[in-house]
Amino acid sequence: MIEDTIDLQALVEVDNPYPYFDVVRDLGPLVWSQTWNMWLVAGHEDAQALLKDPGLCRSFSDRKPLDTWETFNWLNNKAMLDLEAPDHTRLRRALTPAFKPGAIRSLHDQVHALSVEIVDRLVVKLNESEEVDLIAEFTTLLPVWVICSILGVPDEERHQIRIWSEQMVKMYEVHLTPEEILVGQMASQSLADFFGDLARSRRSTPQDDLISRLVDMEETFVDDRELIANIVLLLNGGTGALINGLGTGLTQMLQQPQIWQDFCLNHDTITATTVEEIFRFDAPLQLFERVAIDDVDYRGHQVKRGEKVGLLLGAANRDPRKFLHPNDFNMRRSPNPHLSFSGGNHFCLGAPLARLEAQEALPVLARALPQLTLAAEPQRTPGLMVRGYERILVSRA
Ligand code: HEM
Repeated sequence: MIEDTIDLQALVEVDNPYPYFDVVRDLGPLVWSQTWNMWLVAGHEDAQALLKDPGLCRSFSDRKPLDTWETFNWLNNKAMLDLEAPDHTRLRRALTPAFKPGAIRSLHDQVHALSVEIVDRLVVKLNESEEVDLIAEFTTLLPVWVICSILGVPDEERHQIRIWSEQMVKMYEVHLTPEEILVGQMASQSLADFFGDLARSRRSTPQDDLISRLVDMEETFVDDRELIANIVLLLNGGTGALINGLGTGLTQMLQQPQIWQDFCLNHDTITATTVEEIFRFDAPLQLFERVAIDDVDYRGHQVKRGEKVGLLLGAANRDPRKFLHPNDFNMRRSPNPHLSFSGGNHFCLGAPLARLEAQEALPVLARALPQLTLAAEPQRTPGLMVRGYERILVSRA
């Protein structure tokens, strides 16, 4: 039990949760939290092992009342992220070809061209005004433009799609106002309608995009809702975490200008390791839950059927038993077996794409703006689950 040791509720508010995670890790491999009503796992080896444990599964509980949450509920309970075998296997098999490393490599030129376009726009904005928000003008645009282009969303719809996606994803945070709930429910409906229309249009007039390929796989999806739920998963998965990952990574580099200078001078050789370190250092998604479908014995602890286990991915990434000087941001760290993309059956399908985007965009930014500097203290997004910044104001030094 950890309640006497740390105030877990405060964790959601703090800027730096890692000292708290160290306390949890030191208490043992599985630590019961009364406040959160779940076991917490903060060690690397333990998180890695438990992510692969067949007794622990993802599970989505429909939100109530069912009539007002209907669309949000089916967008989740039909998406593969919240399913297990055999449905998860069937859907993952259908979506995997588009996200295999080979398929992602073929997107290289396209992702590079989008990175150049976005950085060129950013340079113009910085010429026009003294301060520009890096979240709005850089880290958001790339993931949204790339996933929209893969799916086949018309360019003029990208902005609206991003807003709906953000409003829907907000629903996964713990504390929500009634207004946020209403907005999130409406956004879920708008996404479902938009992708329903797009799928119908691609069925009659196929194009060279992923939605056209998916609607062609009639035998894979049990119905249109299942198809749409998994398209929305690709959209939400493809944007939020990477927006935050790029934002926290760039903040980390710009807060210590010598790190940004080092990257600008040496990106030819250190981009791949820098990107992994960005993903490790501040895992964009910090906590994922599993439910025990059987009693699970793990290193002397018994997780009873029905109990929840919270896997603290960011905490695992700072485990000193796995990483030397884990609290140092080291752009040359190698190997870097972080768990930011999770593990086991639900290992992030988009990991090769996220890596490609970050590896393309950061050198383009470094070449164009080596004099980039923070213009104000960046503002963190509240919450523990998603780790990122709301605004990162930058200027040219
Ligand atoms: C830095 C960027 C990203 C991070 C940190 C990240 C993280 C994660 C994590 C932790 C999971 C597994 C959750 C669990 O185990 O319960 C996951 C699953 C997933 N991610 Fe990502 N992700 C990123 C980018 C992307 C991108 C670009 C896509 C593109 C489509 C994507 C698509 C997905 C999908 C479809 C799943 C579900 C996989 C399954 O259930 O089998 N992600 N991601």
